[in-house]
Amino acid sequence: MTKATHPFAALMEITARPPTVFVRGEGSFLWDDSGKRYLDFIQGWAVNCLGHSPPVVAEALAAQAKRLITPSPAYYNDASLKLAKALVDQSCFDQVFFANSGAEANEGAIKLARRYGALHRNGAYEIITFEGGFHGRTLATMSASGKKAFEPLFEPKVSGFPKARLNDLASVQGLINDKTIAVMLEPIQGEAGVWLATDQFLRDLRELTRAQGLLLIVDEIQTGIGRTGKLFHYEHADVAPDIMTLGKGIGGGVPLAALLATEAASCFQHGDQGGTFNGNPLMCAAGLAVLREVAAPDFLKSVADTGLYLESELQRLSARHGLGEVRGRGLLLALDLKVPTAASIVAQAFDDGVLLNAPRPDALRFMPALNVTRQEIALMIDCLDAVLTRIGAARRVA
Ligand SMILES: Cc1ncc(COP(=O)(O)O)c(C=O)c1O
Repeated sequence: MTKATHPFAALMEITARPPTVFVRGEGSFLWDDSGKRYLDFIQGWAVNCLGHSPPVVAEALAAQAKRLITPSPAYYNDASLKLAKALVDQSCFDQVFFANSGAEANEGAIKLARRYGALHRNGAYEIITFEGGFHGRTLATMSASGKKAFEPLFEPKVSGFPKARLNDLASVQGLINDKTIAVMLEPIQGEAGVWLATDQFLRDLRELTRAQGLLLIVDEIQTGIGRTGKLFHYEHADVAPDIMTLGKGIGGGVPLAALLATEAASCFQHGDQGGTFNGNPLMCAAGLAVLREVAAPDFLKSVADTGLYLESELQRLSARHGLGEVRGRGLLLALDLKVPTAASIVAQAFDDGVLLNAPRPDALRFMPALNVTRQEIALMIDCLDAVLTRIGAARRVA
């Protein structure tokens, strides 16, 4: 029925998708066009930090749309000034450039570091990134990523991104030379399967980069805006990076991203950076509404508490079904399955009305709305428990 009502052929085929069409969302739930309800533990890939269609974002968008959608990036607008000020006030950074996607914010970070190298380090341009890292799908951010599947694609690559190993300081030290300008990493490698850079590693990197006159860039596109129980993940390690990128959660579901830098690192010159939609007031109004909710101290504490609850429920499930570790922080967690059953679990949970993500064949990733309730977590756990029981029974028979 769905296929007849919504022919799919007019869209480019960029990935395998179930033939289901979503038409409505509210909080932790989505509905398809047949009226079936799904409990969503993907939330647009950690995007809808306040759940689907949160009233505060919908109202901010409606009010701003009636007032001013965009005056052109050649002029200031009040919403982008307010959001930039709010981000600066709540972080260790001094200036912001708004973008439309995480990849675009990271492109900006790469350009900013190269500009810094041109100004202060004899044209140094190499940015040390990490095996397994993910920074986006533009040509430069694919090169910056350490994703194996990207390696054979779209030659020739943008050069200048040597790869170190996460939590291995010597591997970073070994790559530093007179062309190096920065080290760039995700504090938690999300797409690779939720691998945490330890707080000590972040502190060591800060010390090393400072001693060498290099920039430290954190890609907080997935970990920022409260996802791990702090507004920004770098706060856990008590370090102050030079550059940070934000995306996903900052718009609460709409395309908004940001590049933040300290005064010393904020060195773009006229003509270096820009874009038609950058800092448009419509998206910035959404960002302001999100930030007001997420930055409230009670909200962040509840993310941390709910994250611990989800973690303990997943650990219980893991013990019951003989699975592996639960890793991550706050509401960005992974369950190690020890065997490559993730795709089958995701498909069965989908049929049972629960949306789960498998970043690798042997792991599930959980990135619910930051205001997900314990009842919703219990519903998801019950579904996963039933799917794991079915899969376990099928494996015993086979
Ligand atoms: C850590 C990280 N950086 C960058 C990106 C790219 O963001 P976008 O898809 O908005 O371009 C992602 C997206 O998953 C991400 O997780």
